[in-house]
Amino acid sequence: MNILVTGGAGFIGSNFVRHFLEKHPSDSIVNLDKLTYAGNLDNLTDLEGNSRHRFVPGDITDPVLLDQLAAETDAIIHFAAETHVDRSIVAPEAFIKTNIQGTFVLLEASRKHKHKRFLHISTDEVYGSRLEGDFTEKDVLTPSSPYSASKASSDLLVSSYHKTYGLPAMITRCSNNYGPYQFPEKLIPLMISNALEDKSLPVYGDGLYIRDWLYVLDHCEAIDQVFHRGEIGEIYNIGSESGKTNLEIVQFILNTLGKPMSLIEHVKDRPAHDRRYAVSPQKIQSVLGWQPTYSIESALEKTIRWYCDHLDWWGRIKSGEYRDMYEKIYGVSL
Ligand code: NAD
Ligand code: TYD
Repeated sequence: MNILVTGGAGFIGSNFVRHFLEKHPSDSIVNLDKLTYAGNLDNLTDLEGNSRHRFVPGDITDPVLLDQLAAETDAIIHFAAETHVDRSIVAPEAFIKTNIQGTFVLLEASRKHKHKRFLHISTDEVYGSRLEGDFTEKDVLTPSSPYSASKASSDLLVSSYHKTYGLPAMITRCSNNYGPYQFPEKLIPLMISNALEDKSLPVYGDGLYIRDWLYVLDHCEAIDQVFHRGEIGEIYNIGSESGKTNLEIVQFILNTLGKPMSLIEHVKDRPAHDRRYAVSPQKIQSVLGWQPTYSIESALEKTIRWYCDHLDWWGRIKSGEYRDMYEKIYGVSL
């Protein structure tokens, strides 16, 4: 199969492209990415010269480009999105355009070219917050931020295309990921890189917000299983049922790096900050047999080591070097 992957230069997308090409030697990928501030071709350097991987710089909201790429491919796995909650609070417009309009353009292209599969990568954040128990796939969506509301909107569009047009679509809703190549605006890479630079670690509010952290390769494997064996029209939650407070994560990072707890600085809270995310992965476990294979302790340590070994990678991002470079090469304004 020739698969159109969107957002494959981002954090999860780049890990997925590598995982998928290694696992499926007779398949190939067309990787469409706009290279926004979050996309980075350095995440894909090991794929240079791989004839089964073709990178296409472009925007998912461009219907002409999507018509052309959908004609060449058999299926879509859709990661591309604006993904940072804080940015969505400050500047929501790009979230509406990319996450909703972009998904619509992809759905239309996939429908026109009679694709065999459309896998939409969504998030547990669409369910909103709950203090106890886990959300199942049947729960109503009560998103809190413009980011999660835009993802929930795209989920509903995807479901409607399955119901109305019989598009062979599926949706996954995963919990928070961590691992190599995550942009250092998200909690874990921000805290690791700040600690390495002896900068303060900004913890929002009391730091007792809970997230269910999943190592990115466990997520990639779950996506692969849903893509190949999932039931058309279905939604699959993905998570590890191991919620941790933000303070627990930050303290683990400081302990591992041998840095003082005095680097922690409690700062102003995020508006509409969801207290706890928790999804039940019972369906994907019982139907597809997927299980997470990494423990948070060992995979977080592995991740911290990766950021210690890749100071150049995040140093260039933090200095804005990539942004300037892509603006020059692709004429995109980020
Ligand atoms: P990311 O921000 O690291 O990467 C997003 C990628 O999409 C970037 O490469 C960016 O250049 C690209 N992109 C953005 N707008 C585009 C556009 N208009 N056209 C083409 N490409 C565009 O994001 P991520 O953390 O890798 O998340 C990937 C997907 O997984 C998203 O859909 C997100 O909602 C979902 N998700 C993320 C997490 C998480 O913890 N990171 C958890 C669950 C689900
Ligand atoms: P984040 O990585 O932005 O993911 P999300 O908001 O999508 O879950 O944030 C994870 C948690 O960490 C969330 O509760 C907000 C908190 N946080 C901080 O306390 N400080 C920070 O600097 C950031 C980026 C996040």
